[in-house]
Amino acid sequence: MSNADTDTGMPIRLTLDAGIYYRCCCGKSVNLPFCDGAHQSGGQLPIRFELKERQQVYLCCCGKTTKAPYCDESCGVLVSKL
Ligand code: FES
Ligand code: FES
Repeated sequence: MSNADTDTGMPIRLTLDAGIYYRCCCGKSVNLPFCDGAHQSGGQLPIRFELKERQQVYLCCCGKTTKAPYCDESCGVLVSKL
């Protein structure tokens, strides 16, 4: 996953309802961190993820994670300690 143009390299903490989501990876969305279809003019595709229940998540914005779209603390932010 690459850095989105307007992301800062820190994880984004969100509380989301159960459902299917698409994390923008191209940086063109006007609805970051979610895809709005703007990637269709080229570039990277979104990452689909599904939540079975309402929960707090940390989305990666640095591009270093191995568990995209989630932060795995490769950025140095210990989300497990927050
Ligand atoms: S708008 Fe960025 S991946 Fe879809
Ligand atoms: S923001 Fe990318 S690993 Fe934490």
